[in-house]
Amino acid sequence: MKHFITVIAVFCVIHVYGQKDPNLAKTPPMGWNSWNSFACDISEKLIKETADIIVSSGMKDAGYLYVNLDDCWHGERDSLGFIHENKLHFPNGIKALADYIHSKGLKIGIYSDAGWKTCGGHPGSRGYEFQDAKTYASWGIDYLKYDWCNTDSLIADEAYKTMATALVASKRPIVFSLCEWGDNKPWLWGAKYGHLWRTTGDIVDCWDCELGHGSWMSNGIMKIVDMQMDMKRQLRNYAGPGHWNDPDMLEVGNRLTVSESRAHFSLWCMMASPLIAGNDLRTMTKETVEILTNKEVIAIDQDAIGVQCFKWFDFGSYEIYAKPLADGELAVCFLNRGETPIKVNFDWSNTENINDGKYKYEFTKDTYKMRDVWSHKDVGTTAKSFIADLPAHDVIVLRLKK
Ligand code: GLA
Repeated sequence: MKHFITVIAVFCVIHVYGQKDPNLAKTPPMGWNSWNSFACDISEKLIKETADIIVSSGMKDAGYLYVNLDDCWHGERDSLGFIHENKLHFPNGIKALADYIHSKGLKIGIYSDAGWKTCGGHPGSRGYEFQDAKTYASWGIDYLKYDWCNTDSLIADEAYKTMATALVASKRPIVFSLCEWGDNKPWLWGAKYGHLWRTTGDIVDCWDCELGHGSWMSNGIMKIVDMQMDMKRQLRNYAGPGHWNDPDMLEVGNRLTVSESRAHFSLWCMMASPLIAGNDLRTMTKETVEILTNKEVIAIDQDAIGVQCFKWFDFGSYEIYAKPLADGELAVCFLNRGETPIKVNFDWSNTENINDGKYKYEFTKDTYKMRDVWSHKDVGTTAKSFIADLPAHDVIVLRLKK
C-alpha cells in the first residue's frame, strides 16, 4: 500500500509539473510586442506610452490585452544568478512597469531564450529556468515568449518542457509562447507545454519578399501565409482553444499599404492566429487604428471553436479561404495577391460544398446571409452570385450565416 501511494504521489508530481495552465489562451492571444518596430530600442517610457494608447485608441476594448517586452530588456545576472533589467532603460524596474500595466487593466509579457544567450546577445535562461520563472512571477509577468537562439545541441521538446515546468512551479498563470520558428515541428508536441508556437521564421513588413540576414531569412506576408497553409504541414489540425499556430506578430501599420495591412490582418484572423500588434502606436494613422480594432474581423479570429481556415480555391493570384465558425457560420476571404484589380464573381449554387471532415456547408441546399465585415454591410444571400471589385493586394471578407 505504502509503495502504491508513493507511486501515485510520484505520478502526480510528474503529471502536474510540465502541464501548462489550461485556462489561458482559450482564444488566440491579443496584444502588442516591441520587436517589429523597435527591436532593441525599448524603454520604460515607450512601454508605458504604448499601454496608455492601447487604452485610449480603443485597442483594449477590441481585445488587445498583453503588452509584451521582446528582446533587450535585460541587464545582467547578479552573483546569485538573478536576472535584472537594464537600469538605464527601465530605471524603476520591471515590477513597477508591470504594476503600471496592470493598473490599466492590461497584462504584461516578457521575453527570454532557451539557450545561453538571447538572439540579441543578452543572458538566456539555460540553467536558470526555475529561477527566472520565479523572478518573472514575482514581477507579475503574465506572458513569456521563449526564443531558440544559441541553443547548441539542446533538444527543443525537452528545453521547452523544462521552462513549462518552471512556469507551473512559479504558481502564476503565465501564457507560454514557444518561439523556435517551426524548426522542430512544435505543432506535434508544443500543446503539452505552451499556448502558442511559432511555425515560421521572422516576419518582415513587405507583401511578398524575402529578406536575407546571412544564415537566415525573414519573410513577407504572402510567404508566411503560404508556410502556414502548406498542405504538407496540415497545421490547421493542431490549432484550437489553448494551443495555437503562431505565424509571427503583426506588421499592420508598418511598411505596408492600407490594402496590404487589411489583407494581412484578415488572413491572420482567418488563420486563427495570435493578434500581437507590432507597430508604433504613438504614430499610427486612423486607417491603422480602424484595421486593428475592426471588431467584426477580430470576432472571426476569436471565434470560440478556434478552427484555422483552409484554402478553398486557388486560382493563381486569386485565392479563396474558408474558416468554419461556431453555430454553423462561415468566414470566407477572397484574396487578390496580384498586382492588378480583379472582379470577383462567385456563384455559390455552383460551387463545391465544404466538408473538411468535421464541418459541412452545403451551398446547393442551404442559403446563407452574407455580411461584409470590412464595409460593415449586409450584402445579400448566397442565392445569388457574389459580385464585387477586389483591388490588388487586398481582400474581401464575408461572414455567412444561415
Ligand atoms: C528572434 C525571434 C523574433 C525576435 C528576435 C529578438 O528572431 O524570432 O521574433 O524575438 O529573435 O532578438
